[in-house]
Amino acid sequence: MSAAASIRSRNPLFGANRMKLGIFGTNGKGAAQTLVPEAYRPSWKASVETAQLADHLGFEAVLAYARWKGYIAGQPRHASGVTLDPFTWCAGIAQATRHMTVIATSHAPTLHPITAAKQCATIDIISDGRFALNVVGGWNKPELEMFGAAMAEHDARYDHLQEWLEIIQRLWREEDEFDHGGRFFHVKRGSSMPKPLQQPGPPIVNAGGSDRGQRFACEFADVCFLILRSEDPAEIAPQIAAYKEMARRDYGREVQVWTYAYCVQRETRAEAEDYLEHFAVRNEDGPSLDAWTAGVGGQTKILSPEALGAFRKRFAAGAGGSGLVGTAEDIAARLEQLSEAGLDGVLLTWVDFTDGLRRFGDVMPLLEARGLRAPFRSLSPPVLATAGNRSAIG
Ligand SMILES: Cc1cc2nc3c(=O)[nH]c(=O)nc-3n(C[C@H](O)[C@H](O)[C@H](O)COP(=O)(O)O)c2cc1C
Repeated sequence: MSAAASIRSRNPLFGANRMKLGIFGTNGKGAAQTLVPEAYRPSWKASVETAQLADHLGFEAVLAYARWKGYIAGQPRHASGVTLDPFTWCAGIAQATRHMTVIATSHAPTLHPITAAKQCATIDIISDGRFALNVVGGWNKPELEMFGAAMAEHDARYDHLQEWLEIIQRLWREEDEFDHGGRFFHVKRGSSMPKPLQQPGPPIVNAGGSDRGQRFACEFADVCFLILRSEDPAEIAPQIAAYKEMARRDYGREVQVWTYAYCVQRETRAEAEDYLEHFAVRNEDGPSLDAWTAGVGGQTKILSPEALGAFRKRFAAGAGGSGLVGTAEDIAARLEQLSEAGLDGVLLTWVDFTDGLRRFGDVMPLLEARGLRAPFRSLSPPVLATAGNRSAIG
C-alpha cells in the first residue's frame, strides 16, 4: 500500500468500530427546531468545546453542514440561517482535535470545483489526513437563488453534482494538467497542487434520499446517509441491505450506511420522554418547522407528503433523524439494534450538545461491553484559545 493510501486507511471513518459515531451541525444551530433557551448556538467556544468532548470520547466524525441562508422567508436573523462556513470551520476544528474526521459539506452550485479541490486538500493537510467531503444536491431554494443559480430540477441537480465531483477527484489525483469539457463545466489545463494527503482522495459522504440520490451515493460515496423511515429494526434492515446491495451489484463498491439521530438521555426513560415533549412539542419552533417542511417536501424525495406531516416531532427534535431517547442503557441497546440491522454509524445531535456529550460519556462503556466499539484512549486535546464566545446573533 502506498504511503498516501495508508494515510487514507487510517481515517477514522474506515476504523474497526462496528457502530461509528459523529456529531452533526455544530457549525450551525444543530438539528433541533425549538425555542428552549438552552438550544445550541454556534459560537467558536461552543464549536471547539463540543468537538473536543466528542474527540475525547473517541467519536469518528464531526459533520459541518452548508447553509447560506435560513429557511424562513424574510427572517435572515433566524437561527436556521446562522451558520459558520463549513470549510474554514473544519480547518479550525481540525486544529482543536486529535482523532476525529472533520467533514465539510458543499453544494455544487456554490463553489467552483477548482476552489473546492484546493480547500479540501488544504484541510486534509492541516488535519493530517482526517478530512472528508460531504456533497449534497441541496434543497433550500432561496439560498441557491442568492448565487444567481436557478435551482435545477431534482435529478438534474445530481448530474451537475456528478460532473462537479469528477473534476474535484481528477484534481486530487492527476499529476498532469487536463482539459475538461462537459455539460456544466469547462476547465482548461486543470491542475491543483498540493494533492490531499489521502489518496486517491479524501472520503466522500452523501445523503441522497431519492432513487437518483441513492444511485449517486452508491457510485461515488464511501459513507451514505439514510433517513430511517421506521423505528422497527425488521423494516430498517432491508432498507439498509438494499442500499449496500445496489452499491455492490451495480457499481462493484462497498459502502457504509449511516443515519442521524437526536439523543435525549436522562436518568429515567420517563424524564427523557418528558424533556423530548418539552423541547420538541410544547416549545417547537412552529414557523421554522412550517418552512422546513415546505422546503424539504418541495425539493427532495425523501418522504411522501403524508410522512412529512407525521414527522413533525422528529423534524423539531432533530431534522427528521431517528430518536435515541431514554437512559444510557436504553440508548446503548437501541444503537446495538441499529448495528444489527446493518447500520455502520450514526451522527448524533442534542438540543444542548455540551450537556448531551457529557451525559453520553456513560453510554460509551456500555457500547464497549456490547462489542460495538473498542475502548478508546484519548490523547489530550490541543490547547486552543477560545475567546470566541460570541456569535453575531444571540
Ligand atoms: C447527514 C445529512 C447532511 C446534510 N447536509 C446538508 C447540507 O449541509 N446542506 C443542504 O442543503 N442539505 C443537506 N442535506 C440534505 C441533502 O441536500 C438532500 O436534500 C437530502 O439528502 C435529500 O436527498 P434527495 O434530494 O436525493 O431526495 C443533508 C442530509 C443529511 C442526511
